[in-house]
Amino acid sequence: MTVVRFGVSLEKGLLDALDKFAEENHFKNRSQALRHLISNNLTEKKWESNEIVAGAVSLVYDHHKRDLLSNLADLQHDFHDVILSNIHFHIDHDNCLEIIAIKGESSRLKELANRLIGLKGIQQGKLTTSSI
Ligand code: NI
Repeated sequence: MTVVRFGVSLEKGLLDALDKFAEENHFKNRSQALRHLISNNLTEKKWESNEIVAGAVSLVYDHHKRDLLSNLADLQHDFHDVILSNIHFHIDHDNCLEIIAIKGESSRLKELANRLIGLKGIQQGKLTTSSI
């Protein structure tokens, strides 16, 4: 992709905040930090506008919880059209980490994420948003 250079004028306080943000997040320079901030903002807008987007749902749960595994499978079959892939890690004897990659209309992805995270027995759940 072509990279275009342009000048940006910022108040000193805002520039200091940008530099601090870049340092804390290990960005190599201001351009990379700005690119990240702009891209995140545009991704957020896409998710608000029900565009085709992508993301991942991560779930942590104890697989012994009654009915949880079958409820997880039922729900993912209902949303098979937006699920790209699924990976399951056995963290220890009881706990599992599952990451589900998704792509589709943001409203449907949010519905899936909320229903997965809301299943009885899910200890932690998070939707990570990105765009394509
Ligand atoms: Ni497991």
